[in-house]
Amino acid sequence: MPHADSAIIPAGLDKEAFWSHVHEQLGYLLAGQRDWVTNLANASSLIYNSLLAFPEFADGDRMVNWCGFYIDSELFPAPKLISPKDTPAPQPARLLLGPFCGKPACQLIHVSPGKARGVCADAYCQKETLLVKDVDAYPGHIACDGETKSEVVCPLLLKLPNEESERAIGVLDLDCLALGGFDEVDSRGLERIAKLVVDACDW
Ligand code: SME
Repeated sequence: MPHADSAIIPAGLDKEAFWSHVHEQLGYLLAGQRDWVTNLANASSLIYNSLLAFPEFADGDRMVNWCGFYIDSELFPAPKLISPKDTPAPQPARLLLGPFCGKPACQLIHVSPGKARGVCADAYCQKETLLVKDVDAYPGHIACDGETKSEVVCPLLLKLPNEESERAIGVLDLDCLALGGFDEVDSRGLERIAKLVVDACDW
């Protein structure tokens, strides 16, 4: 099957079945590849294009207008061919824009527990999915696109063998043009997908 066909959505699915279908397709798409840049690029494309092929989120007032990842800056590959002569000073914790689909978005989100700003930083620090029905009512929301009305952000959680609890390594973010665009079914669907993505990659 051509890779692009994995974003074709069969007619007649309800939302639970839609998320199960996307999860299954993503499993096939990520098989045999462990690089997180490559896998997150295909994951954001599959989720975004699948949502746009699903009647509830297709073009129109309820359209999903952004889907992508912000990743802990420490996990980005170090330069290998060109790098500054001096060792850069250590940076405070932050999330950097990773693979995504949609219009351009903010590159950098500062993260500081207790002082987090925005939905992505809060989901990352709290290690919980945040369902925001009205982004304008969310304290500290970062408006990358003034047209976005609602948002769901799911943390990427990784369990290392030598650590007792899961650590957050990034977030998966979806934006919608409608108020209340996402619900609990979307949150749970996204959480299953986030786990699949984390487990499919080397970090
Ligand atoms: N709205 C997010 C920022 C990322 S964009 O939506 C793509 C936030 O408040 O963290």
